[in-house]
Amino acid sequence: MEKISIIGAGSMGSGIAQVAGTYNHKVIVYDSFPEALVTAELKLTKILDRLVFKGQMSSNEAVKIKGNIVYSANLESIRNSDLIIEAIIEDLEVKKHIFSSVENLVSDNCILASNTSSLSITSIAAACKFPERVIGMHFFNPAPLMPLVEFIPALQSKDFFLRKGKKLIESWGKITVLAKDTPGFIVNRVARPFYGEAIRILEEGIANIATIDWAMKELGSFRMGPFELMDYIGNDVNYIVTETVFKEFFFDPRYKPSFSQKKLIEANRLGRKSDQGFYNYKEKNLNPVPLKNKELGNKIVNRIVCLLINEAIDAFFLNIASEKDIDLAMTLGVNYPKGLLVWANEKGLTNVLTELEELFNTYGEDRYRPSPLLKKMVKEKKEFFS
Ligand code: NAI
Repeated sequence: MEKISIIGAGSMGSGIAQVAGTYNHKVIVYDSFPEALVTAELKLTKILDRLVFKGQMSSNEAVKIKGNIVYSANLESIRNSDLIIEAIIEDLEVKKHIFSSVENLVSDNCILASNTSSLSITSIAAACKFPERVIGMHFFNPAPLMPLVEFIPALQSKDFFLRKGKKLIESWGKITVLAKDTPGFIVNRVARPFYGEAIRILEEGIANIATIDWAMKELGSFRMGPFELMDYIGNDVNYIVTETVFKEFFFDPRYKPSFSQKKLIEANRLGRKSDQGFYNYKEKNLNPVPLKNKELGNKIVNRIVCLLINEAIDAFFLNIASEKDIDLAMTLGVNYPKGLLVWANEKGLTNVLTELEELFNTYGEDRYRPSPLLKKMVKEKKEFFS
């Protein structure tokens, strides 16, 4: 079995290590902060003990997984790895530095993968002497439970490393999709309106946070409402992804971050982790109540879903991924109730276009511009997956 090294013992690194350990790899987890290693090891023990206690795992299995994982503050211990997965802080310069240090310690056959959410894989690869073996391998949180992994070849990547990496990750029971190296890949690009348009509706005073969340869950069948989800992810984390995607898209207004979320961060209202975000988690009686008006709720759902569909169509139009992979990514990566392209067919492409054109005419803003592919398909009376 291959030796796998994980760089970064945070939430993602620890989760990925757990999966690799489960599939019997010899796993090294390296972190430059020794305390992070201690925390990660304790956390894993707690998770495995809980699974054993609940009867979901045998104690032998838990001992095996723990035995497969070695925590190390010495980068030298990654020598002879077959795969490196980097999951350190989301900072391009820091990532480039670690990639150039790591590549000297492993053989030319070792795959170097980054778990970055939104940084350029091509740019990370450019820091290496042998960039052909650098790829993006984007897991979702929590890695042991979420089945999706986005695979992103850099401009320099050789197909051999991509295929080898995919085969290995699929042998861990994961479902992989292929995405072009563009900001946010599939999920973090297509999902932007789920947050951005919900905030816009709030800023316009059309509905309060509780009503928007109620509508998206009750009428739209999403598992969580946008405001609950932003508070859960952390407004700081969610905002930075939006800001990165916006900057990387050369300031396309479609991805513009919002002042309301920026103000929350300035006030340290980061969400659940700071007891307050859009919602107050300490003094719950201060939170707004939903106005359960179906007509208003359906309008909200239709507006947000049409923007999401437009993003999915545009991603397909620009060859970011296949129709199948775009729908798989949104259902398995962020638990959307349906693939957005299937949803487009169900709603009727003409209806989606009409909603976008109405928004565009009302506001005159580029964020509502329909994808050229949507217009073309309506004209030609075509559907997705046909
Ligand atoms: P985290 O903050 O929980 O963990 C990062 C770890 O990296 C820390 O333990 C830190 O000590 C370590 N670290 C920082 N600089 C280092 C260096 N130079 N060398 C070695 N270790 C270093 O972060 P998290 O959430 O695990 O994210 C890691 C990566 O995964 C980021 O690129 C993030 O964008 C990406 N990601 C995060 C997801 C999430 O939901 N948290 C989902 C998918 C990807």
